[in-house]
Amino acid sequence: MAKKMFASDNNSGIHPAVLLAIDEANSGHTAAYGDDAWTAQAEQTFKAQFGPDSSVLFVFNGTGANVIALKAAMRSYHAVICTEGAHIHMDEGGAAEGHIGGKLLTSPSIDGKLTVDDIGQHLSHIGNQQRSQPKAVSISQCTELGTVYSLDEIRAITSFAHTHGLYVHMDGARISNAAASLGCTLKEMTADAGVDILSFGGTKNGLMIGEAVVCFNEELQHDLKYIRKQSMQLGSKMRFIAAQFNRLLTDGLWLQNARQANRMAALLAEGLRHIPEIRFVQPVESNALFISLPPESLARLRQQYDFAVWNQEEHTIRLVTSFDTDEADVERFLETAKNACSNR
Ligand SMILES: Cc1ncc(COP(=O)(O)O)c(C=O)c1O
Repeated sequence: MAKKMFASDNNSGIHPAVLLAIDEANSGHTAAYGDDAWTAQAEQTFKAQFGPDSSVLFVFNGTGANVIALKAAMRSYHAVICTEGAHIHMDEGGAAEGHIGGKLLTSPSIDGKLTVDDIGQHLSHIGNQQRSQPKAVSISQCTELGTVYSLDEIRAITSFAHTHGLYVHMDGARISNAAASLGCTLKEMTADAGVDILSFGGTKNGLMIGEAVVCFNEELQHDLKYIRKQSMQLGSKMRFIAAQFNRLLTDGLWLQNARQANRMAALLAEGLRHIPEIRFVQPVESNALFISLPPESLARLRQQYDFAVWNQEEHTIRLVTSFDTDEADVERFLETAKNACSNR
């Protein structure tokens, strides 16, 4: 178990309160496909977080949420602008290209963030019938490198995108960690900042299974439910996804979980900074750490812990904390890292 502790927040289990909520929903028969009391409640719970003009659809996974959100915003002759390292580009098996048929226009990014300049560089062929037409921008909050866009950075992107007729999608697989990091509400980071459509992450923050597509733009709302069905993301036993979200978004559990993960990342970072062989390659702003260490230390650490090697040449690895990471887990890792670096 400990070996997988810092490899990914996907490796964590289910928050006990969420598991209990699933159990509590498990009685009797109810209407399927979202026509049930749990889903109705969850829709209201999301409106309370994101504002009365938002709408929500529940889905199984983050890739599905991203595909549905982008499919609402673009047609097959359109393009979406994102970073080279975006999950939709690197880690979704071409799902966006396969299901939408559109093109991904990517920009290199050192810190995982897209800038207004990056977007601008993809706009020179608007109106050219030979080229895929940019129609959407997709940013990840938190980014794939654990960094967090400030509210000003998000607003700058949405305002520029809208000026050029582009919708803005936010891949919020870890949006709760971003909100915990910025100390803002979910609404301030999305609806109020001009985001058109959001993939809201649940699975990495304590759910068993479940993500949501939250829409803030009426133009994109109408077809979403049909797109979800065609994208094979309409769950028949919807009440069990909804029940999990009801619990996650009640009494601030979503924030409590995200804060715990972020706090443990900060604690881990503090300890690792005392190990001279370790170099941080990204600022630690959420629940992911990117560090570089000598190859022989990396190999020794790997005997005890699994983690993603992010950059083979630079010996950069990614460590991720979760809602259930605690101080003892961090201490154990630090001890192992110290030993691995001092060859003991
Ligand atoms: C940034 C980001 N987006 C989306 C996802 C969701 O992917 P999945 O389809 O595995 O739920 C992940 C999962 O790791 C992610 O890191």
